[in-house]
Amino acid sequence: MKEFILEKLICPSCIPIENPLRLKNTLREGDDIVSGILRCRSCGKEYPIKDGVAVVLKDNSLTESDMKFRYETRRMLSFYLWAHYSDLWGDEGNDIYYILKSLIQDTKGPFLDTGCAVGRLTMEMSDRAETSIGIDISFTFIKKARELMLNGGQEAEIPIEGELMERHYFKIKPEWKTDKVEFIVADAERIPFKEGSFSCASSMNLIDRLKHPILHLKELSRILNPVNGELLISDPFSWDPDIAEKDEWLGGKHSGRFSGSSEENLKAIIMGKGGLLSPPFSLKSEGNAWWKIRNHQRHYELINSYYLLAIR
Ligand SMILES: C[S@@+](CC[C@H](N)C(=O)[O-])C[C@H]1O[C@@H](n2cnc3c(N)ncnc32)[C@H](O)[C@@H]1O
Repeated sequence: MKEFILEKLICPSCIPIENPLRLKNTLREGDDIVSGILRCRSCGKEYPIKDGVAVVLKDNSLTESDMKFRYETRRMLSFYLWAHYSDLWGDEGNDIYYILKSLIQDTKGPFLDTGCAVGRLTMEMSDRAETSIGIDISFTFIKKARELMLNGGQEAEIPIEGELMERHYFKIKPEWKTDKVEFIVADAERIPFKEGSFSCASSMNLIDRLKHPILHLKELSRILNPVNGELLISDPFSWDPDIAEKDEWLGGKHSGRFSGSSEENLKAIIMGKGGLLSPPFSLKSEGNAWWKIRNHQRHYELINSYYLLAIR
């Protein structure tokens, strides 16, 4: 963990009260804190830094029940390494990361990428933002993203078919400023950063993977600057009752709270409907973008995400 992140960190268990974390028992390798403890000055709860990865979750058992999050598996890691970085070894990749980055031209302050997976958008934003931080609930993804950040290159094991795999080595782009990048394990529904500490935040293809999407939107609103804060959201709205109860969905249902179109409901919430997000945002741009996940050489998932950029 890089030290610059510490001034923004707060205890996730104490939210909405914002209590800072104190660093202790640290072991460093150069600028990187490879192990240590982050301790809440108020409630005393401790959060570990293991293998350089800070795990700042209210419920640390979340990482122990890892396998219940399918994103911890080797298969999911290879799917996302392909989706995020395959263009860097000459495969087709996904241009959604460029499309979304191009929307946030003016951002110069700190950037937060929630549900960052293996970190492509976080990395992309490092040549523009003051600092670029990625959070994800998957320890496996964050560890891989950090290895790429530290080593400047990484090996990806990609399925061909069955148990046959191919290996690709890829390098980060020269313009990425990895000294400004950091990744931590954190929950997008309980973001462990001080209010107003980011000028821009993204939630890319995450909303429909959460138990409480509204809580996530409120957290994004809290950590964003109340003046000129920019919010970038994309999602395919693949609502799934195994992930979130229907009452929590932001659309895609006939009746109840947020019935009808997710896209329209999301825009209304962001623009202040029901006073859920305050101060409200105004819509700057919106559209649709395709992205692909490769399962193996003859099987891809093709997803069309709605996206919007909104500003305060
Ligand atoms: C569909 S993937 C999208 C990844 C990436 N943003 C992209 O668009 O390529 C969803 C990601 O959200 C992460 N995730 C799921 N629940 C989360 C939570 N509560 N907090 C933070 N990340 C979460 C998963 O581990 C996974 O990396």
